[in-house]
Amino acid sequence: MLRACVIGWPVEHSRSPIIHGYWLARYGIDGAYEKEAVAPEALAEFLATLWRRGYVGANVTLPHKEAALRAARSADEAAMTIGAANTLWLDPDGALHASNTDAYGFMTNLNAEAPQWKEGLGAVMVLGAGGAARAILFGLIEAGATKVLLANRTRSRAETLAAEFGPRVEVVDWEKRSEALSACGLLVNTTSLGMTGQAPLTIDLSALPANAVVADIVYNPLETPLLAAARARGLAAVDGLGMLLHQAVPGFERWFGVRPEVTPELKAHVVATLGAQ
Ligand code: ATR
Repeated sequence: MLRACVIGWPVEHSRSPIIHGYWLARYGIDGAYEKEAVAPEALAEFLATLWRRGYVGANVTLPHKEAALRAARSADEAAMTIGAANTLWLDPDGALHASNTDAYGFMTNLNAEAPQWKEGLGAVMVLGAGGAARAILFGLIEAGATKVLLANRTRSRAETLAAEFGPRVEVVDWEKRSEALSACGLLVNTTSLGMTGQAPLTIDLSALPANAVVADIVYNPLETPLLAAARARGLAAVDGLGMLLHQAVPGFERWFGVRPEVTPELKAHVVATLGAQ
């Protein structure tokens, strides 16, 4: 039996077991996907003994994404540029390989849900400068975005990110986020604002062109106040759950040998668990 897990601290909130468990059943695979609560001081030992614990690979969630990258023998370009890993597998020689599939997940979902984001290739506005913003900047630049405006409450974090990603990324004051939208064909929220229990994101969308796309990485609730405001203006709105589902695809394929499909049924299955925690 093939076994994989998600490693976090805490790990209870992770929805990865629901996604991978659905696919294991759907494809009739003799496999298992488990939750492993691992404290930061125990991570290195856990990863060094992954195989002996019976695992072919793992997902990694907070707070282990950076440490998992450091613990791996090799890493793909996405993980190295983003500076964090979310997917691990053992190479045939037993060495740990780190990947980051967040950018893949975001871009695959965006291209599926709103392929028009690329038309005209206006500027893109990214809100936030944490780990999620880093993954999304990598994905957008790799996909050909030539100008990304980056706004974050703490300006210095946005400046650090912009310096890493080069001249395509330009920092905009957090207070100027609404007016700067007039040049943008795509707005992406990577902050935690709008999540259940958090304040909504305050932004005036009226400057956005009529064909612009608004994407949120928050998926609980599925329809954030930002996405509701976008839809009310007739703009295309892309929710954060699609990114979560698509980022799981490469790991599942590596561990279990089947490339799984993201379907409306899977989405409905995961939506039914939202709000339960
Ligand atoms: P992650 O790695 O998941 O992206 P993070 O590093 O904690 O998480 O980043 C959270 C993002 O949400 C940051 O950009 C944060 O802004 P700061 O860098 O100024 O902290 C943003 N954020 C969180 N709460 C916010 C709030 N009340 N107003 C504006 N931005 C907020």
